Amino acid sequence: MATPKKKSAKAGLSVKIPGGREILIDKLDPKGWRNIPAGFRIYRLWEHPKTHASISLFEIPKGVGVPTRHVHASNQFMYCLKGEYEYLSNGLVLKPGAFYMNPQGHPHGPTIARKDSLLIEMYDGPHYFEVPSYHTKDTVGSVAGGVKKKAKKSAKKTAKKAPSRAPAKKKPGTGRR
Ligand SMILES: [Fe+2]
Repeated sequence: MATPKKKSAKAGLSVKIPGGREILIDKLDPKGWRNIPAGFRIYRLWEHPKTHASISLFEIPKGVGVPTRHVHASNQFMYCLKGEYEYLSNGLVLKPGAFYMNPQGHPHGPTIARKDSLLIEMYDGPHYFEVPSYHTKDTVGSVAGGVKKKAKKSAKKTAKKAPSRAPAKKKPGTGRR
């Protein structure tokens, strides 16, 4: 059996294997964090280029939360490494060592971090059906069908719905009976 071949001595972090490549991130790049307008941040460790399944670090300071009830476009899994993170709608609290799973399309949130928290967040596909209010298209990561495609579709829909001109108003008593 052939032994896996190193991609290059310079790369050092990856080894080519049949069907893919192992990845090792032994030090986070401080520039790799995505700051979400709602006040938390996400570090994408890995994402499948086709399915958009992903694994990220999710860091949220005490007192901050995901502000709205929302759904995800795939199954979501979380594992709490540090802190205390609560889903307010049902009182589920993730503490260090806790595992959480939310099925595709199942509404959850809002949430609040009771302590400075760090969680591993996993999805088995795209994160959202559309960009939620607490994200921008630059921070959202993956949207089913793609962010740009969704935006184009929505613009087309709006254009179709808009009337070419407003209908003339009838004056009272001037219409035919
Ligand atoms: Fe969520």
